[in-house]
Amino acid sequence: MSERRADAKEAPEESRLSEAEIAVHWKEEAIYHPPPKFVGQANLTDPAIMERFSEEHFPECFREYADLLTWDRYWTTTLDTSHAPFWKWFVGGRLNASFNCVDRHLEAHRNKAALIFVPEPEEEPTQFITYQELWVRVNEMAALLRDGCGLRSGDRVTIHMPMTAELPITMLACARLGVIHSVVFGGFSGEACGARIVDSGSRILVTMDGYYRSGKLLDHKANADIAVRKAAEEGVTVEKVLVWRRFRDRPASTTPMVEGRDFVVDDLLKQYRGHRVDPVSMPAEAPLFLMYTSGSTGKPKGCQHSTGGYLAYVAGTTRLIQDLHPTDVYWCMADIGWITGHSYIVYGPLALAATSVLYEGVPTYPDAGRPWRIAERLGVNIFHTSPTAIRALRKLGPDEPKKYRYAFKCMTTVGEPIEPEAWRWYYETVGRREAAITDTWWQTETGGFLCSTKPALDPMKPGSAGPPMPGIYPIVFDEEGKEVPQGAGRAGNICIRNPWPGIFQTIWGDPERFVRTYYGKYNRNRSSTDWHDWPYFAGDGALWAADGYLRILGRVDDVINVAGHRLGTKEIESACLTVPEVAEAAVVPIVDAERGRVPEVYVALKPGIAPDPAIAERVSRAIETVIGKIARPRAVRIVPDMPKTRSGKIMRRVLASISNRMDYGDITTLANPEVVEQIRLQVQGSGPVEARAGPEDIRRFGQEH
Ligand code: WTA
Repeated sequence: MSERRADAKEAPEESRLSEAEIAVHWKEEAIYHPPPKFVGQANLTDPAIMERFSEEHFPECFREYADLLTWDRYWTTTLDTSHAPFWKWFVGGRLNASFNCVDRHLEAHRNKAALIFVPEPEEEPTQFITYQELWVRVNEMAALLRDGCGLRSGDRVTIHMPMTAELPITMLACARLGVIHSVVFGGFSGEACGARIVDSGSRILVTMDGYYRSGKLLDHKANADIAVRKAAEEGVTVEKVLVWRRFRDRPASTTPMVEGRDFVVDDLLKQYRGHRVDPVSMPAEAPLFLMYTSGSTGKPKGCQHSTGGYLAYVAGTTRLIQDLHPTDVYWCMADIGWITGHSYIVYGPLALAATSVLYEGVPTYPDAGRPWRIAERLGVNIFHTSPTAIRALRKLGPDEPKKYRYAFKCMTTVGEPIEPEAWRWYYETVGRREAAITDTWWQTETGGFLCSTKPALDPMKPGSAGPPMPGIYPIVFDEEGKEVPQGAGRAGNICIRNPWPGIFQTIWGDPERFVRTYYGKYNRNRSSTDWHDWPYFAGDGALWAADGYLRILGRVDDVINVAGHRLGTKEIESACLTVPEVAEAAVVPIVDAERGRVPEVYVALKPGIAPDPAIAERVSRAIETVIGKIARPRAVRIVPDMPKTRSGKIMRRVLASISNRMDYGDITTLANPEVVEQIRLQVQGSGPVEARAGPEDIRRFGQEH
């Protein structure tokens, strides 16, 4: 983020202006035009699309996306707003997601690779799974889930799996039955998985015994035992644990199987060899899956996505922005355990009969040339990854791409703001100036892209996500709900004025939190059924330039974006409090050149307990146990007391400033201002206070909204 910091001028006096009104003066970047070779073959070259998707044609414009799908029954109402803000899309329509992603492609594409699985060990052979093979395996797995586990439409299944082909196979088997899958990122701990089993009420857990990460074979089965135990403690009984094997011929884990509860999937599948399961025709608004994400409280939110609206939106946006043609080889390096993988590895690409590559391991294993070797070998021509991966690959192997013969026609970045420097390396060295780049801004909640350049139509501007997608009408509000106009040069809270088919339907089991979190701030009239009264609050700060491009500045709530992964500070704090010596904990983001942001932890101990590095170590381990290694803090700092307001609120903003060596601003109103200088000396040493303007999200961090 050092680039951004250098671009930003000194921030105006913080205490006088509300944060949303602070002007952000970025250096405007030069624009780059789409490469002509790309434009010549692109799906979307007609500028009239924006007119077709203009407000005048809303919501019927989204028929264009829904018509990419095969419907068992066509819908009667495109958008039903009668239970605002619980929008219903394509009401009356029926379809099956697994049929749309598999069966309907058999006739034309039976022998085409649907999935290509690349194991992390380079000597292990790549697996090519054709549409025919995918269809067979999805059917057999669906038979096991239905006939062996008694699952029916509407039931939930938790899937805690690494990046292997069996993960999308399991998801599609659920979708075939109308069973709601809840995939938990494989890197999350057993406890985190257990908490999600409880919230979703799953009685079946699907997992895998092991997987490779950075050259090590990890025992993943051990996490299943922890997850089931944690669920049992909270009153939810997992009846069966289905364990896929990483290796056909041997177990990858030494953790024992529990008799009567744990089953090797391949053993069970023997009984279902050749079984066929008719896809269950589901209403368009039936839930397809849950995806848990972090918010401002300690409890993750189960974002519920629909079948028809979601699938239509990801199919439409994959076609327009990823520019997928049936002949392309597409590789998205995200993990399927996050929303990007659901929408843009599994559902979007497979709905369009594409070939989607899945890679098991880390991009820099065994060296920073790995992704380019994979691309060369498989003929990947569409590439999709995150700024964190781009930064890591650039740092470790700035010239590696030059050694390999591959040709990307378009490339995507997602998940965090990308610094113009990293963008330019991606464009010039990885893409060889021949690929169109899209910087896509969106969220778990939104199902698919909200902002991106249209790759053959819009110029690229490094560091800006670009204009809104067709049919998405954003607005930037200040804290008081006044519009910050385009080109005002001021940042505010980005909202989307209208519903769109990919938007999530609710928070599983907590519709009130759904309304409060996403609509509470700017709703004009609670009883209105007019969508105009319900702007969607995204929780990101943004700056809307005069040219229509949006620059996303980061979260405005207590969420830290670590390497493109959303972590709630409250979740990390409650993990710290499981260490008995800890009285209080505060987590803040610090700017990291590679991972974007990383958490740093402050803890105050209970009276009479002396600071001890062993306690700090235990706090760090507690975070790994409760959440997972991705949340591991940069440092755990034991402080004498937390800086607090007179009403006792911990001033996380002050701690964030200290951690990031920024001016901590006015502290005279604190109950204990003297502790601030004490903490600063402890963290920064005895130098003077550095008055530095930091990135927008750090300056806003921990503020009331
Ligand atoms: C951030 C990931 C800048 C943003 C798809 C958002 C981005 C959060 C971008 C959602 C981007 C995502 N530029 N910031 N192109 N894309 N973000 O739910 O803060 O894991 O709110 O969804 O990531 O993260 P989530």
